[in-house]
Amino acid sequence: MSGSEEHTLLAVRVRRRTQLADDIIGLELGALDGAPLPAWAAGAHIDVELPNGLLRQYSLCGDSAHTGRYEIGILRDPASRGGSASAHDDIHEGGEVRIGAPRNLFGLRSAQRSLLFAGGIGITPILAMAQELTRSGADFRLHYASRTPSRTAFIDRINASAFADRVQFHFDDGAAAQRFDAVAAIGAPDPATHLYVCGPRGYMDHVIATARSLGWRDDNIHFEYFAAALAEGEVAGDGHFEIRLAGRDLVVPVPPGTTAAQALIANGVPVPLSCEQGICGTCVMRVLEGVPEHRDLFLSDTDKAANDRFTPCCSRARSASLLIDF
Ligand code: FES
Repeated sequence: MSGSEEHTLLAVRVRRRTQLADDIIGLELGALDGAPLPAWAAGAHIDVELPNGLLRQYSLCGDSAHTGRYEIGILRDPASRGGSASAHDDIHEGGEVRIGAPRNLFGLRSAQRSLLFAGGIGITPILAMAQELTRSGADFRLHYASRTPSRTAFIDRINASAFADRVQFHFDDGAAAQRFDAVAAIGAPDPATHLYVCGPRGYMDHVIATARSLGWRDDNIHFEYFAAALAEGEVAGDGHFEIRLAGRDLVVPVPPGTTAAQALIANGVPVPLSCEQGICGTCVMRVLEGVPEHRDLFLSDTDKAANDRFTPCCSRARSASLLIDF
């Protein structure tokens, strides 16, 4: 997909709005004419155009076997600059919103066994995974950590599900014996087991770092950061810099409020894009000179320290210019 293309958005009906937990609403979306929606698999997310015009990504959390509706959960994030607040305040049952087609950067691998880790609202893609794994008869366990039961979405649905006995809840304010112990939950590495984690950044970093310290290979660790894990508005207030392309007599100015990828594309330089949030790595470019300001979640800390690659969809420059290998 080219970044110069707009995602096509489809108007859908908000068929149901429910309060899933404190500060978490659930929306059930269906086609205006009742027709089936595009198929999806667990781990997929959709773009949702919020009433204030912002585009936000939400994981699909229903059962992927139901093509008649999409379900999403939205946490009201006090740190948000209007994204989740707009959804909570201005999306109503019976109304319309526009959404993009499902995209999946977090799909299930075929594995003998899966370990699912959800922190807070990160349950949304993980719940879809649990349903899909149950349907296929696969072996899995789900660890679901949250602050307190009243802030935990889908407790009743999980407890009533066919996979309830595979789920362990961990509440921060619960008894010590049930608290989340990442070492015990993850256990020794096993090449036939794949681990999936989604949730707040601190939780995810903890699970991923623990798995690595236990000897798990990166190939068996899968994760999806929420856009909210990238501080909203991080691209605001950013300064001007320029990009030079090695071997080409072209200097591309990147003004504040424009991403490097947008500036390159506007100047006829193709940039492959997918997530446009610094998550997937599709856009990574080699940096020959200059110091990037890394704002992605794709490159490792070691990669970032090397400063020889950057993600133009979201990262910028600390130096006045970057020389890019093109
Ligand atoms: Fe996904 Fe840039 S497009 S990291």
